[in-house]
Amino acid sequence: MSHYSNGTKPIERKKINVHTLRGRKRKQIPITMITAYDYTAARLVDQAGVDMVLVGDSLAQVVLGMDDTVSITVDEMLHHCRAVARGITGAFTVGDMPFMSYNVTKQDAIRNAGRFLKEGRMNAVKLEGGAEMAETIEAITNVGIPVVGHIGFTPQSISQLGGYRIQGKSADSAYALLQDALALEAAGCIAIVLELVPAPIAQAISDALTIPTIGIGASAGCDGQVLVFHDVLGLTIEGHRTPRFVRKYANLGETVVTAVSQYVTDVKARAYPAAEHTYPIEPDELEQFLAMTNDA
Ligand code: KIV
Repeated sequence: MSHYSNGTKPIERKKINVHTLRGRKRKQIPITMITAYDYTAARLVDQAGVDMVLVGDSLAQVVLGMDDTVSITVDEMLHHCRAVARGITGAFTVGDMPFMSYNVTKQDAIRNAGRFLKEGRMNAVKLEGGAEMAETIEAITNVGIPVVGHIGFTPQSISQLGGYRIQGKSADSAYALLQDALALEAAGCIAIVLELVPAPIAQAISDALTIPTIGIGASAGCDGQVLVFHDVLGLTIEGHRTPRFVRKYANLGETVVTAVSQYVTDVKARAYPAAEHTYPIEPDELEQFLAMTNDA
């Protein structure tokens, strides 16, 4: 076992599956989902008891420092999916398909979705888009790959949407969102993420579907909620604007800066490492060693 491993086995949980998720909707038990991008985070959120873990393409921004989610590749996503899968015992895992990995041909979409299960070890894929994606979703579902839809604000279309904007604010656009949701359900989606949608519209869509809706900035009217790991933990960089819909449950960004500054101070002052952080040598071995160095 490496010095860097946690040295313990992941805590075993009963595995959440597609039936559990449908059951939650039927029994009106809210579904919890959070993003994770690496093994350590995956273990921690799984231990905390979340139902679903999303390896979101928000990875591009919060982990890789890109401006948006448009440039991330399937290979980059899969690298992180594998790490997350190793840390999960109970949560249902979903890998986000990157922009243009499912938009050109159905064959491409099926092949790439398959890679998320075979290579990324995910339980399902997520892709963005409404009724126009229904045929693709049906094709992926038909080969046995569960698909989570994503409508409302769809970050991969940020250029077309003109920035982070609430979707479904007019009667027409709200009605179109409802039609999109129904088309995705008919195409075989197991759940739909609703992002940045007014509360009454999210509620109406959730009421109209038999599959769960997972909201982000879409109110408690959804059947579940998803947030980005870094937002929940306040693991954000100075100057980062936290969206209105986020509730920060910790301030880890500040904690990290304070802790690492203290480490820097201690090393410079030779206050770290202290005696308790060092390894001894038997006195007679040391004596012999010193004699050898004196003889040399
Ligand atoms: O990439 C992501 O993290 C997402 C969630 C915000 C839903 O798609």
